[in-house]
Amino acid sequence: TTDPLVVFTPSGKRGHFPVGTPVLTAARQLGVDLDSVCGGRGICSKCQITPSYGEFSKHGVTVQDDALSEWNKVEQRYKDKRGLIDGRRLGCQAKVEGDVVIDVPPESQVHRQVVRKRAEARDIIMNPSTRLFYVEVEEPDMHKPSGDMERLIEALDVQWELKNVQTDLHILQCMQPILRKGGWKVTVAVHLGDDNHPPKIMHIWPGYYEGSIYGLAVDLGSTTIAAHLCDLQTGEVVASSGIMNPQIRFGEDLMSRVSYSMMNKGGDQEMTNAVREGMNALFVQIASEAEIDKALIVDAVFVCNPVMHHLFLGIDPFELGQAPFALATSNALSLRAVELDLNIHPAARVYLLPCIAGHVGADAAAVALSEAPDKSEDLVLVVDVGTNAEILLGNKNKVLACSSPTGPAFEGAQISSGQRAAPGAIERVEINPETKEPRFRVIGSDIWSDEDGFDQAIATTGISGICGSGIIEVIAEMRMAGIVDASGLIGSAEQVGTPRCVQDGRTNAYLLWDGSAEGGPTITVTNPDIRAIQMAKAALYSGARLLMDKFDVQNVDRVVLAGAFGAHISAKHAMVLGMIPDCELDKVTSAGNAAGTGARIALLNTKARGEIEETVRQIEKIETAVEPRFQEHFVNASALPNSAEPFPILAE
Ligand code: FES
Repeated sequence: TTDPLVVFTPSGKRGHFPVGTPVLTAARQLGVDLDSVCGGRGICSKCQITPSYGEFSKHGVTVQDDALSEWNKVEQRYKDKRGLIDGRRLGCQAKVEGDVVIDVPPESQVHRQVVRKRAEARDIIMNPSTRLFYVEVEEPDMHKPSGDMERLIEALDVQWELKNVQTDLHILQCMQPILRKGGWKVTVAVHLGDDNHPPKIMHIWPGYYEGSIYGLAVDLGSTTIAAHLCDLQTGEVVASSGIMNPQIRFGEDLMSRVSYSMMNKGGDQEMTNAVREGMNALFVQIASEAEIDKALIVDAVFVCNPVMHHLFLGIDPFELGQAPFALATSNALSLRAVELDLNIHPAARVYLLPCIAGHVGADAAAVALSEAPDKSEDLVLVVDVGTNAEILLGNKNKVLACSSPTGPAFEGAQISSGQRAAPGAIERVEINPETKEPRFRVIGSDIWSDEDGFDQAIATTGISGICGSGIIEVIAEMRMAGIVDASGLIGSAEQVGTPRCVQDGRTNAYLLWDGSAEGGPTITVTNPDIRAIQMAKAALYSGARLLMDKFDVQNVDRVVLAGAFGAHISAKHAMVLGMIPDCELDKVTSAGNAAGTGARIALLNTKARGEIEETVRQIEKIETAVEPRFQEHFVNASALPNSAEPFPILAE
């Protein structure tokens, strides 16, 4: 053939096309991912490309061929009106003239990769549920009577190959004036559907709609509800916001909420209403932060633990409070927002990830989606630390999951000076092994307590207590400085050789901060504090150890700490306490809010939903409550770091 050769990068797809073929047409024929909302009319600019070898006619140059100059005029008009980056061309307007290599920049790809903040296990590839389409609809004609909707659906079929598109009453109610206002040119948001659902029109705007549509990724925790508002075209997080879970007034932790519903008739419904109201308040807040109308939110993904899951859905969590901990359903759910009283777009969809087991919820499934242990070559232990530790262990051959009742000690509850992570909380601690003197840092200030300017730095925050990561650090430091022994007992002032060890009832306590002179708090670490942490960390470790037994391994290759708390604990301190199995320190990483990231992946990539549903079906669930070895591991794991198992790497 003598037709010019067209090569697209980065895909490498290539083919010969006659002179005059629009680049967008060539891309479509080769299956190259090149975006378009206006269908090649030179309006949306989503189709931008850069010729990296070879050229197209310059903008505005009068070319002999009339058709060619007409194309360039469209592009010139676009450039004058909105501007194009130098060297960029509109793929629907630039036409093949000779051999050419064409680069498709990431922002022109529908399935672009969303940049994640850190090198993570899994890339986010855009494949959103709902997309925008610009169409030109035939005007009504008395000689060929048909409804406006029928002609709109026909246009979507002819211009976009969208088959069998459905619609709801709310679109029919508003469509006619919009079609006329747009001069029979409209932009529609279409939910693309899936194997079981045909595509559906979600929204309609007159003319070309310049704005975007949005989705929510919501991490519904028992303490806080955190949401990310994402642009469904670019994948960007446009706003993030959080509130306390309003169910807290019915009980601090999960089990107290389950018992509230057992003790109070209609208690479950009260909690369902509370969480949905809270959620709606959060959506108002996040939409106003992003300065968008919340009716533009057309999709939402929720991740949560099983009790939150049931209460959010309006299902009595009674069965989750007792063996055998049967879920109403463990399947993923695809619902409509109105069914859950969520006040976003009237036809918005809601997706809940599948639950793994009675104690291992959709939040753990989201962590599995984000951290992808099922795709890992090496054996990875993923721990999401909250009131319950949700633990995954696996590699590409097999993944096991369990949950372990750590209780709220890691969140600062049940600790004498404990508090939630907030300004004024001690979060970092070091103890000099010689002098036994501490230095520390509080949230809201980056100056250590023994440095100049500390008093000034904390003048606004004050010192109010110790948060979860602070308590881990201080106990590990006390252990390394010989203030506390392997069984968890704090020595006396004489034994340790410091007046900071003070008598506290029948045991001792370590004085971290005495603010009494200024009327501030006195912060000590008591033996019951250490006891609470020992129980929590023993539960965590035993869960991990049980999965290692099932896997028949003595070591793991790496450890991923997920959750807000995981982001703040230092690997060294966690290992000194024996919270996690012995492992090279640089193989312990923090994944931040992995459940939230998993929700975002499921929101932006509908294909990932099917994948995680399949992964969850494959995950082997281990119930710690019925495993006799769990108790055995628990007893050994209450020592610091462990009474039965050596920590050889840590010892070095
Ligand atoms: Fe819309 Fe090219 S496809 S401007």
